[in-house]
Amino acid sequence: MTTTEFDHHSGAYARDWREINSTLRGKCPVAHTEAHGGFWVLSKYADIAEVARDDETFSSYQELPDGSRTGATIPAGPLRQVPIEMDPPEFFDYRKLLNGRFSPASVKRWEPYLRDVTTFCIDNFVESGQADLVSALASPVPAILTLELLGLPTTGWRTVSDVTHALVHTLPGSPEHDAAMAGIMGILGQVNETIAARRAEPKDDLISELVHAEVNGEKMTDARLIEIITLVIFGGVDTTGSLIGSALEWLHHNPAERDRLRADPALIPTATEEFLRYFSPVPGLARTTTKECTVGGQALAAGERVFLSWSSANYDEEVFDRPDDVVLDRHPNRHQSFGLGIHRCLGSNVARLEFRVVLEEVLRRLPDYVVDTAHAQPYPTIAVVNGWISLPVTFTPGARLGSNFAL
Ligand code: HEM
Repeated sequence: MTTTEFDHHSGAYARDWREINSTLRGKCPVAHTEAHGGFWVLSKYADIAEVARDDETFSSYQELPDGSRTGATIPAGPLRQVPIEMDPPEFFDYRKLLNGRFSPASVKRWEPYLRDVTTFCIDNFVESGQADLVSALASPVPAILTLELLGLPTTGWRTVSDVTHALVHTLPGSPEHDAAMAGIMGILGQVNETIAARRAEPKDDLISELVHAEVNGEKMTDARLIEIITLVIFGGVDTTGSLIGSALEWLHHNPAERDRLRADPALIPTATEEFLRYFSPVPGLARTTTKECTVGGQALAAGERVFLSWSSANYDEEVFDRPDDVVLDRHPNRHQSFGLGIHRCLGSNVARLEFRVVLEEVLRRLPDYVVDTAHAQPYPTIAVVNGWISLPVTFTPGARLGSNFAL
């Protein structure tokens, strides 16, 4: 067996994930680590693709004889998330309830709203010539859209964003994670109230749709509704914010590329895919083997935990030329940042739209922003999402434009 000290929750991984992934890919692409009760780390693009597509052998949710459970993260999170932590055939019943509101055509309709929210956020700081682009822009835009889409009050965006940040960047069982769990209770209170209100009087939002939907001829329990709604919150809020933060920080260091995007905004969609590949905001997720199998020549027993390192696959030299470079017009770019197989990200179209609108507005309204690199803070540990705590910038002050959105 090939062993490694790999731990995706360590500070060393948050700092040096590209180097650690590269060493594993070169030396032991299917490696075993003792971290978090022991699991296998897959680092090659092809092995990860094979596993993600074989949901029969590689399960996203298993209840273990000792009463514990496995899920999409290592270690398993405190709350089950549906449908990410669910296998077929049941999985399909739930995924199909969500697909409609996240299809390209449905998501397109959100663009004017997103433009208003982004304008509102930039208006709040544009006259001052300074801002923290994480707390003033990259966090609120995805959080506000996610809450609006669900039907939850957008005034609560900061609490939702702070709690989500804390949960996706800290280790389950750590004091920071426990504190964030306390915050979750407040959000769940709001979710419960909205479920009751929409049951009585539906509106045009996802929670209304879910409370009135039937699975196998029956309405869902509140517990199941919460497993779905919290996944949309955790999936929707911090992931895109992290991508925005990472890309804006990179564009500070690469002004010629920033000018190129400003001059040619049509390049933004291709550049978005490259930023997704290069920053891999969700570095990896997990599966559990349901039977004996072989991956990359390594025999695995039933009941083994397996970590699919999307961030390593995205730098696999066998698939990508010059993987360590950001190539804004890279094509094709079959990155794994949204996963692949049946659990492929439900919100990929939302994420792409949010990213494009925010980037367009930043390039238009804060074209000369400069990051205060001495005070910009990345998360010291990654856990599930790799992003920034703060990104202070200065820029030439501009005028407010006015927005149809207000909190
Ligand atoms: C840059 C932004 C994002 C990234 C990198 C990302 C990444 C991922 C990945 C890797 C998966 C696959 C999970 C697996 O295979 O186990 C996933 C699933 C999922 N994502 Fe995203 N995501 C992003 C944005 C969003 C947004 C904006 C939403 C919702 C508004 C969302 C909701 C979900 C949901 C519900 C699933 C579970 C799908 C299923 O199990 O069928 N994500 N995401």
